[in-house]
Amino acid sequence: MPKRRQVLSALPSLALLLFIYFILFDTRIKPPPVVFSNTTITQQETPHSNTQSQFSLLIGILTRPDGYDRRHFLRLIYGIQSSPIAEIDVKFVFCNLTKAEQRVFIALEILRFKDIIILDCYENMNSGKTYTYFSSLPRILSRRYDYVMKADDDVFLRLAPLALSLQPRPRLDLYYGFVVPCPSMDPFVQYMSGMGFVLSWDLVEWIESSNIPVNYTYGPEDKLVGLWLNMGNKAKNRFSNKPAMYDYPGTNGRCSHELIPETVAVHRLKRWAQWLDVLHFFNVTKALEESKLYNV
Ligand SMILES: *[C@@H]1O[C@H](CO)[C@@H](O)[C@H](O)[C@H]1NC(C)=O
Ligand SMILES: *[C@@H]1O[C@H](CO)[C@@H](O)[C@H](O)[C@H]1NC(C)=O
Ligand SMILES: *[C@@H]1O[C@H](CO)[C@@H](O)[C@H](O)[C@H]1NC(C)=O
Ligand SMILES: *[C@@H]1O[C@H](CO)[C@@H](O)[C@H](O)[C@H]1NC(C)=O
Repeated sequence: MPKRRQVLSALPSLALLLFIYFILFDTRIKPPPVVFSNTTITQQETPHSNTQSQFSLLIGILTRPDGYDRRHFLRLIYGIQSSPIAEIDVKFVFCNLTKAEQRVFIALEILRFKDIIILDCYENMNSGKTYTYFSSLPRILSRRYDYVMKADDDVFLRLAPLALSLQPRPRLDLYYGFVVPCPSMDPFVQYMSGMGFVLSWDLVEWIESSNIPVNYTYGPEDKLVGLWLNMGNKAKNRFSNKPAMYDYPGTNGRCSHELIPETVAVHRLKRWAQWLDVLHFFNVTKALEESKLYNV
């Protein structure tokens, strides 16, 4: 009897030891705290931190300084998503500020969210913003990512399926997205649509250092990325994720199709009615719990 009582009384301290051990162990297997340069932090710790991330992904959403409302909305869209298998940072990317008010309002955003990258360029279409984005990253980030994505601000990305589809892909020499033209299934012909494409970090470094991209920065930007990679004999690994990536139904001919459960990206969401349809379809707000505080 006394023996059994001893064992029993030892249990709480054993539990305590285990508890302490797990706390220590847990902090050890967590990815090291991410140190960003001050201008470029994003999403708060996501709740999944127990699982060790298998890869990291930076999603840069190319937008304009004056797109305050869109950024606010996209912060909600991506702030409530995460993936257990990837560490994903979402940042908004634009060129130099041009107005006095921007220097205040955007400074406020950075103070609060730390998710903005301001590149050294004039806001432009087809004049090299995509080149500036990729070629600046190795220099301005204080860390590397396995993958870097360029995304539009009118696309809905589903981060968990996106991560799942990237997980089995090579971490090197990868060019992933939605191949143009619309009906094409051959990722080695032409280029990946600007709705959202992913490059592995070695290709981002190549864009920074090669003399090919820097020579071809003016023109349709997403097409140029394909041109650079072809000219440089790069991106041996290419993956076009159809039908999981597409344009919103009815907006762009054969690039469009109906919403499907296995979606990674829906593009061309210009109107609120389209966003509403998409958020409904993917049950994005279903997780909302009942509360006395609100009645939704
Ligand atoms: C970045 O943050 C660190 C630590 O908070 C600070 O010491 C440093 O001055 C900051 N740098 C800039 C450029 O703000
Ligand atoms: C962007 O702003 C920086 C800092 O003010 C300045 O040095 C640079 O020349 C600007 N670049 C362009 C393209 O306007
Ligand atoms: C870059 O452009 C310059 C001037 O047009 C040209 O002389 C050079 O051969 C080009 N380099 C490449 C790698 O295309
Ligand atoms: C959304 O929820 C409904 C009802 O639970 C379910 O039938 C449907 O498959 C869900 N849609 C997706 C895309 O997960």
